Amino acid sequence: MVIGKGYGKTILFGEHFVVYGLPAIASALGSVTTADVKVIKGSGWTVDDQRLATPGYKQKKYEEGLQSVRNVINHLNINTENQKLEITFAGDLVAASGVGASAAQCTSLARALNKLFNLNLDDEKVNNAAYEGEKAYHGTPSGIDNTASTYGGLIWFVKNLQGGKNIMELLNSPKKMPLIIANSGITASTSEVVADVRRLKEENPNKFKKIFNEYKNLANKAKKALIKGDFIAIGDLMNQNHKLLQEITVSGDINDQLVELTLKNGALGAKITGTGRGGLVIALTENGKIQEKVAQSIEKAGYNAWKTMIG
Ligand code: MEV
Repeated sequence: MVIGKGYGKTILFGEHFVVYGLPAIASALGSVTTADVKVIKGSGWTVDDQRLATPGYKQKKYEEGLQSVRNVINHLNINTENQKLEITFAGDLVAASGVGASAAQCTSLARALNKLFNLNLDDEKVNNAAYEGEKAYHGTPSGIDNTASTYGGLIWFVKNLQGGKNIMELLNSPKKMPLIIANSGITASTSEVVADVRRLKEENPNKFKKIFNEYKNLANKAKKALIKGDFIAIGDLMNQNHKLLQEITVSGDINDQLVELTLKNGALGAKITGTGRGGLVIALTENGKIQEKVAQSIEKAGYNAWKTMIG
């Protein structure tokens, strides 16, 4: 049995905008998905999904999950005619919409197959394999999730819309940032929400052009603030990013309520992270004490909250 790992991720700036070649900033999380792969006699492959998950998540993503496994196996040209793969997914990352669960799953599988069959894949090739898997979940993923899941750390990412190599820059922040991840419990379909945004963009080109320009400006400021470790500026820019996400209709009522709750309890900034329309909200706090207070307020309201340090 061989084990591969993929990190969960959180997008600090730029979900959805990143699909259109605008820069985004993401951070890997400490939690991972693991893939254990065993070769036995027979043919084909099976999946035993033991990941912890938000109720309903695995059911909603079941077919996409199987297709993603198929994509990774095919991309890596693994022979499943004369041997059978028994794949088990587990790990401490709780699968939820917004945490990069699908990317972590694809990356962990690519890494496990790499080790098991001595494929000598470097990170870039693991990342490419994970991207193929991600296509089953997203249709046309930007690639930010699998990149964060493969490389870890804090990254600046720009998708190459011409199909060449994407830009990926590791950022160093001088201070660790206390973050709360609040789970609405609602599993959104990334491919549906991304398609909806595309439709809206086609219907309102001028509105989107203005929003995209505003966002681009904001992303450059966010990069500088992160490198400086300026929490106040980062929080403020997160709030501005959330407003733009509201304008492109990806923030649902529950997201807005969770954002408000974290701000009321002392967060410096908050926004949806990932697909939106449910899924997760992130909030930045000045220190661990306020982080705890914000997390408790979320739990009190009946939602799960995870505390993490990023950067
Ligand atoms: C999903 O985690 C992030 C989106 O921007 C989609 C993508 O980048 O492929 C919504």
